[in-house]
Amino acid sequence: MLDLHLVILAAGKGTRMKSSRPKVLHELAGRSLIAHVLATAAPLDAASTVIVVGHGAAEVRDALADRPNIDFVVQSPQLGTGHALLQAEPALKGRSGTVLLLYADVPLLQTNSLIRLLERHSESKAAATILTAELPNPEGYGRIVREPAGSVSRIVEERDASAAEREIREINSGIYAFELAPLFDALKRLATDNAQGEYYLTDLVAHYRQRGLVIETLCLDRPAELRGVNSRLDLAELSSTLLDRKRRSVMLDGVTLEDPSTTYIEADVVIGQDTIIGPTVTLTGRTSIGSRCRVHAGVRLTNATLGDDVTVLDHCVVVDSSIDAHASIGPFTHLRPGCAVEEHAHLGNFVELKKTRFGARSKAGHLAYLGDAVVGADVNIGAGVITVNYDGVNKHQTVIEDGAFVGSDSQLMAPVTVGHGAFVAAGSSITQDVPPDALAVARSHQTTKPDWAAARRAARQKKV
Ligand code: UD1
Ligand code: CA
Repeated sequence: MLDLHLVILAAGKGTRMKSSRPKVLHELAGRSLIAHVLATAAPLDAASTVIVVGHGAAEVRDALADRPNIDFVVQSPQLGTGHALLQAEPALKGRSGTVLLLYADVPLLQTNSLIRLLERHSESKAAATILTAELPNPEGYGRIVREPAGSVSRIVEERDASAAEREIREINSGIYAFELAPLFDALKRLATDNAQGEYYLTDLVAHYRQRGLVIETLCLDRPAELRGVNSRLDLAELSSTLLDRKRRSVMLDGVTLEDPSTTYIEADVVIGQDTIIGPTVTLTGRTSIGSRCRVHAGVRLTNATLGDDVTVLDHCVVVDSSIDAHASIGPFTHLRPGCAVEEHAHLGNFVELKKTRFGARSKAGHLAYLGDAVVGADVNIGAGVITVNYDGVNKHQTVIEDGAFVGSDSQLMAPVTVGHGAFVAAGSSITQDVPPDALAVARSHQTTKPDWAAARRAARQKKV
């Protein structure tokens, strides 16, 4: 939207969180509070974004360092919401248009509600438009005081309100649209003659009214969106609302959740159509799942990228890795960071991979560890194969070329290469490169003593 400027208040201490972390960096559904607010506002395409920080300013700044086009202004000390917004003045110098004021600790708000607020604001040509709601229990909020004819006369904070004013059920959400032109001059006129001795942003309303400026309101019919986070209890409750929203949205997009109440899906996860997710699955971070996949019970995927038609059997853990189309893994497969499993590959029971590329149509069905390895296409890895990648100081690479066959219970002492089409006999300890199409046998020879066991049994029996 042209000439829209976001100001997000994030300076408050959040004492009730009982935390050394700034409140707005606490996470729910996989995103920090402030990241939720930024995500909600992103579709509005604001020309600039100013975040007012105070408590834990450096940490908040660091956490958002990779986001472009954010101006941080520091409010110190914190003298109230009016004082907080005033800190944005230098960052908005020379700008015109509309300021949308948001709180960083109100994460459930939906984009559509902000769009409606901005529409009401521009249609009514107001100098300020307040987002309000009617609550059965308005305790703790500022109340919207209206003239008999219905127009807003002022906002009164709970602590400054008369008994009659406390009966008012229309509350101030603290979220507003302001025209920039009169805003900062008016903020400079705020006083601190109130119960908390703070510069109340809410006092701007009475001031505007005296000056004959138009004040509008938009009453939100879903007040639950306005809930803020003050404690860990709020965090848990709002998190559960967000998770519920996410589950509903993936189901409406064509994903089957076999037991939705046990599925944990974070906000940034993407899932393709006709994928089926089993019970107790955890999908976190930037996980992206293709279409027609099956993810069975007890799986955790973190920053995982799955192509189409992938099967993940029960109790796999996949972190920072990709699995291409038609591949299958599990049960109990562990992909540690940096793995790429290519098309139609298969990894089975108790197979662990780390920083390994596992080629198309290759198979490792049972009990293997492949670390720092490059495995080509059409490779067969037998049960119990291990890459010995660590010498206690350094990690070394194992290369297994296309079409190779590594027999069960072999150890590949890295750095080492098994050439294409080569064959490693079961039980080998491979310390030297195996040329293409060769056979390598690296195990001691078997000695067989006929009748030895029977003779031993007979000797023992005599002793008794
Ligand atoms: C404010 C409103 C109240 C409204 C309520 C909605 C005022 C005076 N009151 O009250 O009418 O019903 O929000 O939740 O505006 N903050 C700063 N710097 C400060 C003070 C606050 O950045 O100096 C930030 C906080 O981090 C928070 C937001 O502003 O994100 C609101 O502050 P808070 O103290 O919670 O305001 P309330 O007293 O609840
Ligand atoms: Ca509050």
